[in-house]
Amino acid sequence: MPKVSRVLGLHLSPNKKGTSRVLLDKFANGVVEAGSEFTLLSISDYPNLSGCVACGACSKTGQCRITDDMEVFYQAFDENVKIVVASSLFFYDVPAQGKAVIDRSQAYWSRRYVLGQNQTGKEGAKGFLLAVGATKGKDLFTPVSLSVKYFFDALAFPKKFGTLFFKSLEGPADISEEQFLQTRAAGFEFGSPF
Ligand SMILES: Cc1cc2nc3c(=O)[nH]c(=O)nc-3n(C[C@H](O)[C@H](O)[C@H](O)COP(=O)(O)O)c2cc1C
Repeated sequence: MPKVSRVLGLHLSPNKKGTSRVLLDKFANGVVEAGSEFTLLSISDYPNLSGCVACGACSKTGQCRITDDMEVFYQAFDENVKIVVASSLFFYDVPAQGKAVIDRSQAYWSRRYVLGQNQTGKEGAKGFLLAVGATKGKDLFTPVSLSVKYFFDALAFPKKFGTLFFKSLEGPADISEEQFLQTRAAGFEFGSPF
């Protein structure tokens, strides 16, 4: 029997019923259809998230010394090797609460780049970015791609990760049937154990 793979859905928008969440649910359908488990972790369920305060503690210990909801996220990052980040754009990047989660992954960055730990990363680690915006500029998804690229790097995930970007989506009602199908197919591929 092949081992069941697990996918963590990291939702970085504060909108529980918004565009990125609706699409992430569709992505999750594809993951489950492929035979994998899907766990949702949304910042919309965790209001007690501080930003990084640059205290420098993690560069000595590898651990963040702030105690808040981020502990749930650290545990999920430690337990999962497949992560799909789903986010909308707020001023071109992930919403501030979601950016707090990314900034707090500095603890992982410190372990890797200051303390020399976790150089190889976990076997089978794989990332994906699903992002949406309401406008349609040429470079719309460049900032979020960079933020998420270096978030995955801090976790020692591979440099290359899958992406799905949708422009001109003000809200869930703007999502086309074709976009739903594409998202589900991407989830299926990402959730496939091999
Ligand atoms: C504060 C704020 C800033 C936004 N900034 C951008 C932006 O820079 N570029 C863009 O295309 N859309 C921007 N939007 C629109 C959202 O990205 C868009 O409506 C998206 O579908 C919302 O998805 P969500 O409900 O999953 O958060 C912004 C929305 C808000 C509320």
